Amino acid sequence: MAEQSAEQASVAQAMAIRLWNSRWLLVAGVIGILVAFAFAGISAYVLVPALLLLLAAALLPATGLRHSGENATAIEAIGLQRLSGEYLAAAVADPLIIFDRSAAIVHANAAAFAAFGGIAPGLSLPLKFRAPEMQTLLDSVLSGTIASDVVDYTEKLPVERAYRVSASSVGHGTDLYVLVFKDQSETRRIDRMRADFIANASHELRTPLASIAGFIETLRGPARNDPAAREQFLQIMQNQTGRMARLIDDLLSLSRLEMKPYLKPGTEVDLRQTVDSVIDSLAPLAHENSVVIERDFAKGPLNVPGDRDELFQVFENLLENACKYGQSGGRVVVSIAHADDGSEPGIDVTIRDFGPGIPEEHIPRITERFYRIDVETSRTQKGTGLGLSIVKHILTRHNARLTIKSEVGKGAAFSVHLPTHG
Ligand SMILES: Nc1ncnc2c1ncn2[C@@H]1O[C@H](COP(=O)(O)OP(=O)(O)OP(=O)(O)O)[C@@H](O)[C@H]1O
Ligand SMILES: [Mg+2]
Repeated sequence: MAEQSAEQASVAQAMAIRLWNSRWLLVAGVIGILVAFAFAGISAYVLVPALLLLLAAALLPATGLRHSGENATAIEAIGLQRLSGEYLAAAVADPLIIFDRSAAIVHANAAAFAAFGGIAPGLSLPLKFRAPEMQTLLDSVLSGTIASDVVDYTEKLPVERAYRVSASSVGHGTDLYVLVFKDQSETRRIDRMRADFIANASHELRTPLASIAGFIETLRGPARNDPAAREQFLQIMQNQTGRMARLIDDLLSLSRLEMKPYLKPGTEVDLRQTVDSVIDSLAPLAHENSVVIERDFAKGPLNVPGDRDELFQVFENLLENACKYGQSGGRVVVSIAHADDGSEPGIDVTIRDFGPGIPEEHIPRITERFYRIDVETSRTQKGTGLGLSIVKHILTRHNARLTIKSEVGKGAAFSVHLPTHG
């Protein structure tokens, strides 16, 4: 019933709009007919139908280019009349609160209820949002000096979330106002990560650079005429430039991986051949560290979908770590086996060393950029702290999993589970 009467009201409104739009034509028509009636002596039987005809013509829906604009206005008027504020608020994904002149909540959408506990119609906003910036925002909009304003506001509980809050007057004499909360937490987190990353990267570059600068100064001063010291310092400087070059290579590697988030589909990698060539390429390092690398490969083909160069980089990083940090164990076992854990079918490549192992509390953080258990050991091993974060990046692109198991004093095992169906 209510819907029908609303529709009738809308149609009446559309007719009124059409009449208003053609008011001047109507006036001219009526004057014309009256003049004809007065001077040309047309009969009253013609006069009334002529006036009715003129009215009907004015009420007909408009056609043509000019009229399509008017039509759209009429449709918009009808459409907006059907729209309730409640539906509009529900369609907004961000938390939205409508309030009145006394700053009491009139309506809040579902997102607002989910974001802020304990809000209800009638509740005073200054009591709910006690932060000074929110009070200022409410005051400035309610005082009527400005129509809208924006502030940054942080909600502490249940979890910390940062919002950009805008307040504006609904207008048209409604005496209503609206608050919209835009969640900025994710953007802030990414900004913080980027700032941390730049700080870490520049710190890592600054350390070898400072040492090189120091040695240059010594070589030009006190060690100017000391060939033995010169030789030793030049060697250190060469090591430091090598470290800077490795760091830049790793940074470029990470950014290249971030630039191409999807794998080229359809390429297969022979894990037996790939892991074999990783072992061959690291034979000199293993020899240098007195580590024996043992192979334990399953029989038959060991192929997975993926990118060969990227998987090479993964196993190279893991095996290099095992040789460097697990050196004291004297041996490293590299195994490839079909995974039969009942979940998705795949192949597990495990690199196990028998060194000091990794204390449990470090395991969850070890794949973070620049995270090292012992910075000094890593530096003496020419590590940049980026190896495992590159590994993690590549494995994510391969839909693969990295599992780290370790017992302090007994060694560490890094296991990569690669699905056989991409
Ligand atoms: N097999 C392992 N045993 C003990 N500690 C390990 C082992 N593998 C990694 N770690 C620890 O994890 C840290 C991070 O390793 P990651 O490979 O990310 O960096 P890195 O080896 O220091 O540098 P990069 O790999 O870039 O040369 C290492 O510094 C080391 O402390
Ligand atoms: Mg490493």
